[in-house]
Amino acid sequence: MNREILVTSALPYANGPLHLGHLLEYVQTDIWVRYQRLSGNKCRWVWADDAHGTPIMLRAEAEGITPLELIDRMKLEHERDIAGFLLSPDNFHTTHSEENREMAELIYTRLRDAGLIVKRTIKQLYDAKANMFLSDRFVKGICPNCGEPDQYGDNCEKCSATYDATELKSPVSQVTGTVPEIRDSEQHFFALSTFKDMLVEFTRSDAVQDEVANKLKEWLDDGLQDWDISRNAPYWGFEIPDAPGKYFYVWLDAPIAYISSHKHLAERTGEDFMKTWKPGSEVEVYHFIGKDITNFHCLFWPAMLEGAGFRKPTGIFCHGFLMVDGAKMSKSRGTAVTVETYLKHLPPEYLRYYFAAKLTSGVVDMNLNLEDFVTRVNADLVGKVVNIASRCAGFISKQFDGQLSATYPENLRKDYDNFISARSIISEHYETREYGKAMREIMLLAEHANTYINDAEPWVKIKAEGGRDEVQAICTVGLNYFRVIMTYLAPVLPELASKTESFLNTTLSLEAIDEPLTAHGIEKFKPMMTRIEPAMIEKIIEETKELAATEASAITGSNPDVEPIKDEIDISVIEKLDLRIATIVDATAVEGADKLVELTLDIGLEQRTVFAGIKAAYKPEELVGRKTVMVANLKPRKMRFGLSSGMVLAAGPGGDNLFLLTPDDGAEPGMRVK
Ligand code: MSP
Ligand code: ZN
Repeated sequence: MNREILVTSALPYANGPLHLGHLLEYVQTDIWVRYQRLSGNKCRWVWADDAHGTPIMLRAEAEGITPLELIDRMKLEHERDIAGFLLSPDNFHTTHSEENREMAELIYTRLRDAGLIVKRTIKQLYDAKANMFLSDRFVKGICPNCGEPDQYGDNCEKCSATYDATELKSPVSQVTGTVPEIRDSEQHFFALSTFKDMLVEFTRSDAVQDEVANKLKEWLDDGLQDWDISRNAPYWGFEIPDAPGKYFYVWLDAPIAYISSHKHLAERTGEDFMKTWKPGSEVEVYHFIGKDITNFHCLFWPAMLEGAGFRKPTGIFCHGFLMVDGAKMSKSRGTAVTVETYLKHLPPEYLRYYFAAKLTSGVVDMNLNLEDFVTRVNADLVGKVVNIASRCAGFISKQFDGQLSATYPENLRKDYDNFISARSIISEHYETREYGKAMREIMLLAEHANTYINDAEPWVKIKAEGGRDEVQAICTVGLNYFRVIMTYLAPVLPELASKTESFLNTTLSLEAIDEPLTAHGIEKFKPMMTRIEPAMIEKIIEETKELAATEASAITGSNPDVEPIKDEIDISVIEKLDLRIATIVDATAVEGADKLVELTLDIGLEQRTVFAGIKAAYKPEELVGRKTVMVANLKPRKMRFGLSSGMVLAAGPGGDNLFLLTPDDGAEPGMRVK
């Protein structure tokens, strides 16, 4: 019997572009959804932008536009990236929609009427300059537990302690840089603790992965705090119906958009969306999420649904994080690659395949190793899969007028049956999100197909007398292997699958492969996929670095030429530097070097020779007699023109746009700069 399934992915925040980390989740979802559809199940994928919350408000302000303008633009960008990566949601909506406002109000009202919303006055940090209460992420201070400076208002990155923002020592508002005061504020809490027993059972059921349940146990054992679902104005979101000036916290109305996006879809398709969402529904509901948002999906969300008379999800599929070259994605290192940048240089299916090859059902981080990515895609997709078709297609079209053999060779039918019987194990791997295992099975088939063609040597047989029929049979077998393999890969490589359909003149489906294609005309083969060149990856990294620099300046509104701040260092690094005041006693242009000036520097104790790349900015003779600052303990460096013992300090991008540092009058050569 065909199943009815509703799938969701976590909603990307509308305050920034989609990046490769998001894609890991969205590709994981897309493969599962496409696999379900290929299997004949009715599978819908509803999704949306998460368009509320303080970060969106502040970003819009920084850009000088309204939050509405920002989220409209982001939605278009996200939709462009979704299409570009061949993701196939049935609906992509937004949390800032009428459907979602109504649904959030309905759920809130039901919870309130059931006595599950409690009002309580709490102490909160207030920024008197900006006239606003500060949410956790907008205040930083010293961790009350371990004393680590520069921590956010909710938890410490160093010791992992969680605390209330009012407990931070020396808090500073991130909005205005002023010291916030503590004010009383009435908030609305959702009585999460009421659902403790249900949640203990739910998290231990099949709906939640064991490793996630184990992590959530801490929350459950701590007795579950009631959850503050309101925020004070100014806030970008939905106003709470019976509490003017109070807004729903972004995490209240975000998951509700799973329902309202479905409702929005149903307006188009005419289906009864409440059939899915009422208790006892037979429709399966699955949420794909990352490991950072498990408490919202496995605790708060099921409790809200139950409290408001909706059904709970059938399962929550949680994945780990994407790392690039072994580290967290970083803008300055160029590894926080946006979908837009990736797509400028590479087609989506390469990364879709790489993710598939490495994905498991577990909550483990995945490392995108860029070298491995290039090798893997070239070896598997180009070298193994597409190669099967390109080795057989030419013979069929040139020698046999595009016709496959009239019958399938009897002695190879058993081999073909092995290809079909792999279907059940590959399906099971897709179903259980063990895509890596599915890809390994498929690649074994591809290796088998290549070995077969190698051993059969159609290129030799075509020249042998009476070998023609055999060559047609060999290529018919090869192309049938290719057809089965591409059917199995269709959820991962939808574009290659559709090129295969045109080429083989047939529709790929899991049932159709029961019988091989024979006595069938195919189209001329066109190259389907080219190898990745490492230079493409380098371009992606470079462009990401450049983007990071311009974006930083767009947000702060500063000069676009300003370079981004480098990674934080410890004071001990500074203490190692020996900077000295120096007088330039001699300066000459270096013969044969178009940038270098040879400086002779007096630093009180001794004279130093330093080669400096400042020729485009200064005439050597102008420099003589001038004071500047040098690094005196830099390891001497042998250059083509002599030994350079130190370095002078200058600011600016370079070339003629360079400014040598000069101390105030009175500084004497040899003084240490501290
Ligand atoms: N808006 C919330 C989700 C609300 S769902 C009702 C949010 N947005 S997000 O943009 O920060 O993240 C969206 C999804 O992408 C989350 O599931 C998150 O775990 C996932 N990822 C974000 N960065 C990721 C990686 N680097 N790696 C893998 N997944 C990542 O959270
Ligand atoms: Zn701490």
